[in-house]
Amino acid sequence: MPKGLRWPKLLALTSVLPLAVAGLLAGVAPAQAATTGPCDIYAAGGTPCVAAHSTTRALFGAYNGRLYQVRRASDGRTADIGTLTAGGFANAAAQDAFCAGTTCVITVIYDQTGRGNNLTQAPAGGAAGGPDALADASALPVTAGGHKVYGVFVAPGTGYRNDATNGIATGSQAQGEYMVAAGNHVNSGCCFDYGNAETNARDNGNGHMGAVYFGKLCWFGGVVPGQCAGTGPWVMADLENGLFAGANGTNLNNTGRSNAFVTGMVKMNSTTYAIKDANADAGGLKTDYNGPLPTTAGYTPLHLEGGIILGIGGDNSKGSAGSFFEGVMTAGFPSDATENAVQANITSVGYALPSAGSGLTPGSEVSLRATTACCTGDYLSDSGGNVMISPVTSTSTAAAKAAATWTVRAGLANPSCVSFESRTIPGSFIRHQNFQLFRQANDGSALFHNDATFCPVPGNNGQGTSFMSVNFPTRFIRHFNFTGFIASDGGTNSFDTATLWPDDTTWVVSAPWSP
Ligand code: AHR
Repeated sequence: MPKGLRWPKLLALTSVLPLAVAGLLAGVAPAQAATTGPCDIYAAGGTPCVAAHSTTRALFGAYNGRLYQVRRASDGRTADIGTLTAGGFANAAAQDAFCAGTTCVITVIYDQTGRGNNLTQAPAGGAAGGPDALADASALPVTAGGHKVYGVFVAPGTGYRNDATNGIATGSQAQGEYMVAAGNHVNSGCCFDYGNAETNARDNGNGHMGAVYFGKLCWFGGVVPGQCAGTGPWVMADLENGLFAGANGTNLNNTGRSNAFVTGMVKMNSTTYAIKDANADAGGLKTDYNGPLPTTAGYTPLHLEGGIILGIGGDNSKGSAGSFFEGVMTAGFPSDATENAVQANITSVGYALPSAGSGLTPGSEVSLRATTACCTGDYLSDSGGNVMISPVTSTSTAAAKAAATWTVRAGLANPSCVSFESRTIPGSFIRHQNFQLFRQANDGSALFHNDATFCPVPGNNGQGTSFMSVNFPTRFIRHFNFTGFIASDGGTNSFDTATLWPDDTTWVVSAPWSP
């Protein structure tokens, strides 16, 4: 019996599932993501999941096992992170407690099917470098169903793999796959993939892969301009030695998808393949392509090997960036009805960027109070162009109160996040430069907009709000020696010290001192 599979539960499930899922296949949206998972839907459609990975939620309605494992830097110990309830969302609070005061990486993404198709650190492969880096476990906080959860933040160099799998399609066997990724975290490095790849981390030739890709790499556009529609990012099929937008590679019907959360879906059998994409938060799937496999030698039929990759190419190319929230692989070619029901299940999750936090309404004025024990009477203030923390009380001067008051603006680089405009010098904003915070005039550049945009997330010490830098998402607004920085939780700079990092990076959004 595959390790970890709860057969009695699974058998019980299969007897009730057809009824529960019948409505889904008829296009009726599920009442709750927690009671029916995508893998229940695939099973009811006759194409069961043979791998199911997510750091955010259970992908079976009855799954209550481990979702992922984290390892902390302070003592090298590991902890498994499970669900809050059977079929429910990840217990991010358990990760926060385990990783408090230190940093954690994601070491294992468990396979929920019971087949043991876990993903772990990718080894070196045919492409240069490796073994790959592991994802910073706290780099990608989002909410799912209103719960704080963490995705897998793939910076270039990061990758996961399993070369010895169970039940994954090989040869020209049919399979389906999807992943949920982030439309705002992409690049054109090779290759932000999830799915079927070689079992030796080497490029074994055309057709030796069948993975879903998401990103801005227009593989067939390098020579002839106009071979990709728009600028992406696109959901494509990585079939080895090519990211196929459809047909023989070029397919102008694949117009790209850049929602905050994106569903990317592919399926293939011995003669055909299909590519679909969607907003993972609303609406249905768009079929970008559904037709014959590429006619170039090697692709018809495919020569799938059955390895599984995440965040890298089949040969361990690791220039890509991306965010991964959930993904599955099936045995068999899922029907369109099944895939539509799966997309409805995904949208029911309600993936969302971290909440803007109460009091952070654009146009309103706020003061940001420090939460570290030393400094709970200190506020983030403009000190002659440097951004520091300074004590402010009701008897402070009007100038000191104004210096501690900021107008909230929709993020200059991302309207889902925020920027802080000076009350006293309108047009000037808090921005980071060499990781230190300054109050500077907006010069209109993309760099300034990025440097001045911060995404509010639930406070790193469990209270208040923390502000993640939009262009350095492992860094948060921090005070250190009373000076403002964007700091990571551990690192070579003195201001990145893990000591007090959760407190120093957490702020109470307060009524403005200078209304
Ligand atoms: O097919 C695109 C990429 O080409 C594969 O992921 C990789 O193995 C090769 O470099």
